[in-house]
Amino acid sequence: MNLKVNIAGVELSNPIITASGTFGFGREYGEMYSLDELGAICVKGLTLAPRAGNPPPRITETYGGILNSVGLQNPGVDMFIKNEIPELKKYTCKIIANIAGNTIEDYCEMAERLSGSGVDMLEMNISCPNVKEGGVAFGTNAKTILHITQEVKKHAKIPVIVKLSPNVTDITEMAKAAEAGGADALSLINTLLGMAIDIKTRRPILANITGGLSGPAVKPVAVRMVYQVAQCTKLPIIGMGGITNGDDAVEFMLAGSNAVAVGTANFMNPYACVSIKKGIVDYMNQYHIKDVNDLVGQVVIK
Ligand code: SIN
Repeated sequence: MNLKVNIAGVELSNPIITASGTFGFGREYGEMYSLDELGAICVKGLTLAPRAGNPPPRITETYGGILNSVGLQNPGVDMFIKNEIPELKKYTCKIIANIAGNTIEDYCEMAERLSGSGVDMLEMNISCPNVKEGGVAFGTNAKTILHITQEVKKHAKIPVIVKLSPNVTDITEMAKAAEAGGADALSLINTLLGMAIDIKTRRPILANITGGLSGPAVKPVAVRMVYQVAQCTKLPIIGMGGITNGDDAVEFMLAGSNAVAVGTANFMNPYACVSIKKGIVDYMNQYHIKDVNDLVGQVVIK
């Protein structure tokens, strides 16, 4: 049975990737199972300078998911390179650095610093809904996506994944703009902008008022968007949004994902990635599928 997948020339031992922001830098999960189990780790979103993130409360449970407004808390790109890459390099899984910035120059500078640092790929986070500058502001306009992708590509010496926001009218326009800008792969979806109110206090539950919704509640939206994007680009796709078990992962692959990212499920079950991988293998055994790549885009539309 073959579980290997290839994303923009980078070979992953299997299609399971951790979604940025749900796995830290892998240290805590690495105490529970070998990170060699994973195809890749996509680390918490990095910025040039360290960030404390948004004030609390910044995460709350909702029906079938969570609403977060973390605000890109991270130690900064240089601390990541110094302290985290040597730890991650102990494992066979590939490393994806998720990068975010206030300006296009921020993204370019991080692409420079991370190329040659041991990271295998960059994921451009132009879809974080929780920051005042940058983030989703870059990811909801096709012209801006084209421009920022072109600029980052001038500086990156490793493949660039563009992470798309679902908070748009037509995600295919955004996907096509990223492809035209030279993206090597796409990942989708980031969180859906949401809000929750405490009816006793009549105040928003999150200090930032709004936050990004993730978890099983968003899965049908994500599958639909992966399917639409797979129809309009030739780029490899990392699909995500509420994947909780092997069947969910297979569903995303049938819609057109070459690999899948697991996010909120890691909070519910720290072994989620391992059991999702096993679930894919069980499905392949049941349907006599020898190569996981044979699932990609195989949804039957009559
Ligand atoms: C956050 O740190 O606010 C979440 C990151 C993201 O949505 O991209």
